[in-house]
Amino acid sequence: MMRYGLTGIIVACILTIAAVRGQEASCPAGLPELPALSRHIEQADILNGNLSFDEVLDHGEELFRVLFNVCDGQGRPATTGGVAAREPDEMPFSRVSAPDSNSCFSCHNQPRIGGSAEFAGNVFLLAQHADPILESTSMMTSNHRNPLGMFGSGAIEMLAFEMSSELHALRDEAAAKAKEQAAAVTIDLITKGVSFGQLTVAADGKLNTSGIEGVDHDLVIKPFHQSGTKVSLRQFSANAMNQHHGMQAEERFDLNPDIMDADFDKDGVERELTIGDITAVTLFQAALAVPGRVLPDDPERRESAQRGEVVFAEIGCTSCHVPELPLDSRFFTDPNPFNPSNTMTDKSQMVRFDMTAQGPQPRLERSGDGAIVRAFTDLKRHSLCDPPEAADAIRFFCNETLRDSRPDVNGRHGSEFFLTRKLWDVGSSAPYGHRGDLTTVSEAILLHGGEGRASRDAFTQLPFADQRAVVEFLLSLQILPEAG
Ligand code: HEC
Ligand code: HEC
Repeated sequence: MMRYGLTGIIVACILTIAAVRGQEASCPAGLPELPALSRHIEQADILNGNLSFDEVLDHGEELFRVLFNVCDGQGRPATTGGVAAREPDEMPFSRVSAPDSNSCFSCHNQPRIGGSAEFAGNVFLLAQHADPILESTSMMTSNHRNPLGMFGSGAIEMLAFEMSSELHALRDEAAAKAKEQAAAVTIDLITKGVSFGQLTVAADGKLNTSGIEGVDHDLVIKPFHQSGTKVSLRQFSANAMNQHHGMQAEERFDLNPDIMDADFDKDGVERELTIGDITAVTLFQAALAVPGRVLPDDPERRESAQRGEVVFAEIGCTSCHVPELPLDSRFFTDPNPFNPSNTMTDKSQMVRFDMTAQGPQPRLERSGDGAIVRAFTDLKRHSLCDPPEAADAIRFFCNETLRDSRPDVNGRHGSEFFLTRKLWDVGSSAPYGHRGDLTTVSEAILLHGGEGRASRDAFTQLPFADQRAVVEFLLSLQILPEAG
């Protein structure tokens, strides 16, 4: 069972029996109520085919949509959103420091389940560490972030996985060469045509990481969270379940050797989310349809949207918003081997599906054994911040704080690095920018400073009709209406 060995298996068996009985489980405090979630599922039933792929997706959708109640285990009186123990807190909800909502769908609903949200869906990152409430909303202690949509996210996780694997292979090759030659070796860290700077390995194997760009020094691309800090949908979902809803994943709590407590949050409910449940909500998101294009009916606007794509490339937007990246494998696999230690990584629990042949349509476009991902990103972190001393400095996207002003993994204070935003759903994801405080696409473009400044300036120098064309093109990138 995952990395937790035999003890984990025994615990899981005992808990399985408990869960079967749990179908008529009583609600904490003896309420005459039932859980809102209709059932839990077991990973074994996914692996041995007792549940079909569609049944697993349906269960994942229910987990994403259900308004969790206290009988499900909603709430976490003795656990923070950051997974630490705390003195039991009587406050069941806080819109700021969370639990802040009743379901994933509360915030991921535009244009439908699994998507993004308008400003009212914002989250106050770090606020869970910064009560009382008034302090938590201060820009000094929390970062306001607008929800992203998960359409196409299975392909995004797999792209990052393949790219990280290649960066690791490059690093290991360089280390072997440095040892063999007894001399330092410097390599270019390029994967799928995207450069992540350089790495030098000394003869004794020591790494000089100062030339690495746009990714943490562990060379693991983390494609989720706009600041690029989470590896997988599984890791993110287990976090979100705890933070937003006080629903604990057993792999994170009950079976985690660092915790091993079936009721860590002291709400009277054990085994709130099984490994199978977390797999289901992960697969539901990974299999969501891939965004597409909706060209305007009006012939003039249609021509403009088509021309806009060319102009977008001509002015250098595609240096970061890379129009397409190739996947070597068309399969989504979970768990991700790069998951951190509090998330399941056990290969023997692996499930996979073909993103070009299974799940809701439209699906990923197949190419050979792999697929093409038209997400308009390089999965690299960039700074859109001009130096503060520049006379016409653009620093709109440079407004985040780091917890306790600790340096990030790259030793930098203050966070101004964000992943190149995926644009394949931009026509369905208003409002814009990481805080969601911009109502138009063109404002987001005009506020690119720093590494994006040259292409932004080129945009401002275009004739008005060409600027319109770029915007028309971007707004044509949409989540398509549900098939059937
Ligand atoms: C209160 C609103 C809210 C709720 C509820 C919520 N989310 Fe989110 N979600 C967000 C925000 C805001 C972001 C963007 C965070 C960021 O980029 O820093 C996000 C991002 C994500 C991402 C990463 C997307 C990406 O491309 O980076 C995933 C995956 C996700 N949420 C899954 C879930 C799941 C699963 C649930 C339910 C367990 C959930 N969310 C509940 C607001 C919410
Ligand atoms: C240096 C890399 C880089 C270049 C070049 C670049 N962008 Fe971006 N773009 C980003 C990053 C990073 C973000 C995320 C900004 C944020 O919210 O913090 C972004 C965000 C956006 C957004 C906001 C999308 C949303 O949903 O909020 C739009 C629109 C956009 N870019 C369009 C463009 C256009 C058009 C160009 C060319 C004029 C361009 N970008 C050039 C990196 C880049």
